[in-house]
Amino acid sequence: MVRVQVPATTANLGPGFDCLGMALQLYNSVEMSVASSGLHIEVQGEGNTDLPRDEDNMVFQAARKVFKLSGHQPPGLRIRLVNNIPVARGLGSSTAAVVGGMIAANIITGNKLDQREIINLAHGMEGHPDNVAAAVLGGIVVAVPADGEVRCLKIPPPKNLRAAVSIPDFPLSTRLSREALPQQVPISDAIFNLGRVALLVSALFNGDINQFGVAMEDRIHQPYRTNLVPGMKKVFAAARLAGAKGITLSGSGPSIIAYSDSNLDLIARVMRDTFRQNGVSARSMVLSISPVGARALEIK
Ligand code: HSE
Repeated sequence: MVRVQVPATTANLGPGFDCLGMALQLYNSVEMSVASSGLHIEVQGEGNTDLPRDEDNMVFQAARKVFKLSGHQPPGLRIRLVNNIPVARGLGSSTAAVVGGMIAANIITGNKLDQREIINLAHGMEGHPDNVAAAVLGGIVVAVPADGEVRCLKIPPPKNLRAAVSIPDFPLSTRLSREALPQQVPISDAIFNLGRVALLVSALFNGDINQFGVAMEDRIHQPYRTNLVPGMKKVFAAARLAGAKGITLSGSGPSIIAYSDSNLDLIARVMRDTFRQNGVSARSMVLSISPVGARALEIK
């Protein structure tokens, strides 16, 4: 039996669409063992009412890829998921499933794949590398697909940086949220984002979170997603007033994440209340950055 813990992740950090990601201290656990026959899946916590228990389950699908690659097909499989990451809320639940399934299967088959190969394989399933790289490596990560593989580098997180996350009660699939994006953006918006993403990476390295207000601005995905998240602009404004240094949609949404080194509880409450005032029931959490990525907690 192997038990793997995988962190939640927030992608983009505003302007870094599909290339910046951060791991958060909120974890799913994937327990996997070989059975004599059949597929047995148990789900506890988030998604326990609607996640598939058959071959459509993402953890199983990810594990199956690793079994195929390693040439080791177990006669049956037992999977137990304990989920703390809300499903389809922009906090990397599908990435956690994919990465958790792959790492568990990799351990069962004798660790034939290294971290880089897991990231490449998971990127193939997810289609964008930002959540995947952060979930595997932990911390804050730049991830860029190039020449058939994902190049990733970690960025040291600023001291005392934490996040207030407000999570609406409705799901939003990444597919739908990407369908809202245009095929082309004006060159002026591309220039706007290039400058901000460079400023953000530099601000992170310098620990200068006072740059976040400008450095986390974005013009290439968030404006097109505003209509999918009722109250989004008001939640941004309220978080800013409550002292947030930077505010972004978390991944493809609908959660909104605000960063600061103080007043996080207040910011979280104000964001949740503003969602509610706009007819969206929501909950909020305060989370620290997870310095560690996915890892085995138990092998026996
Ligand atoms: N970069 C991806 C997007 C993340 O924004 O669509 C999805 O979680």
